[in-house]
Amino acid sequence: MLNGKNVVLGVCGGIAAYKSVEIVSRLKKLGAEVDVIMTESAEKFVAPLTFRSISHNPVITDMFAEPINYDIKHISLSQKADILVIAPATANIIGKIANGIADDMLTTTVMATKAKVLIVPAMNVNMYENVIVKNNIEKLKKLGYGFMEPDTGMLACGVNAKGRMPEPQSVIEAIVDTMAVKGDMKNIRVLITAGPTREAIDPVRYITNHSSGKMGYAIAKAAQKRGADVSLVSGPVSIEKPEKITVYNVISADEMFLKVNELYEPADIIIMAAAVADYKCSVVADTKIKKSSDELTLSLVKNPDIAYSIGKKKGKRVMVGFSAETNDLYKNAKSKLENKNMDMIVANDLTKEGAGFNCDTNIVSIIGNNGEILELPIMPKEKVADEILNYAVRVYYQKKESNT
Ligand code: C5P
Repeated sequence: MLNGKNVVLGVCGGIAAYKSVEIVSRLKKLGAEVDVIMTESAEKFVAPLTFRSISHNPVITDMFAEPINYDIKHISLSQKADILVIAPATANIIGKIANGIADDMLTTTVMATKAKVLIVPAMNVNMYENVIVKNNIEKLKKLGYGFMEPDTGMLACGVNAKGRMPEPQSVIEAIVDTMAVKGDMKNIRVLITAGPTREAIDPVRYITNHSSGKMGYAIAKAAQKRGADVSLVSGPVSIEKPEKITVYNVISADEMFLKVNELYEPADIIIMAAAVADYKCSVVADTKIKKSSDELTLSLVKNPDIAYSIGKKKGKRVMVGFSAETNDLYKNAKSKLENKNMDMIVANDLTKEGAGFNCDTNIVSIIGNNGEILELPIMPKEKVADEILNYAVRVYYQKKESNT
């Protein structure tokens, strides 16, 4: 998963430093190359030798040590890093970075790097809640530094409060998510459905819904940016065709069904974001229906369920569905997830302001088939798209690893 990626891990002086050994071990197992930089006080908690043995790389502790090879370490590591992670990060290091202080190997590397920086604070609750620390974190967040929230639990000082470093697995997930911006979907083939479908009544009229296609198109663009090979089966929308994405335009649910069944085979991830009409007219009039009687009854029959048909034969593919609801959000979404054999479903409550059809934002929860629920705040559809892809990519690799 992290093959060929360079992670530089900064370790500061906190009791949680022992957990960072496990982080290095997991990063190595995922294929990453890891360089560890320790602050002077970190060495009081864990010996550099421990990190050296696990990372198989010399551990950098002293800025003025004789170089092992003749490059200037803080420059070479800052350039080599695909991501710089600081875990645990103390109030001290956060304060130094926020104020541009570069007085040891770790802070110098942070100042010199252009890579993403992910900071994982761990400290006493009163320190974490200190307004100076809070302001420093806010300042750094605004500058684009990534932060993880500390966990709540027993702290080294004996109180049960917020301040614990998150468990290594969560840190790994945050690292993977943070790096996601850079080609993490290379060689992954994604098939997406988007937009509404139109079900003809006669040659001039049709039944449809309010779907704009924005969510599905945002996912397609985000996946393409992340290196995926994207095919998009789109109902009628008024969005410009995105670059470098193969778009198959369809009108009705029947056409979408045929196209998706024709294209699903090579896909690794299938994302069903289309709002497919559930019913179509049982007979489509050949000529325009005339305004004659006072009442007109249309007879409707069920459309094929595309997601259901693919879910039955999806094999190793990751299938992502959507569930737009006006009531019983989780109950309805979970039953669709099960019925259609999806790996995950994106549930949105259409009654909320800023969610659903025809707007630029969305408020969704992602539900995994393991029961996990990830509730996301209101955010632009582009950001929602990335969150959905982060989750889908994680499931893709989990499936790949476990061979299911
Ligand atoms: O059952 P419901 O239509 O609400 O399920 C929504 C999910 O199923 C969405 O992911 C949608 O794209 C997909 N779907 C489909 N074919 C249908 C109806 C829905 O693929 N005929």
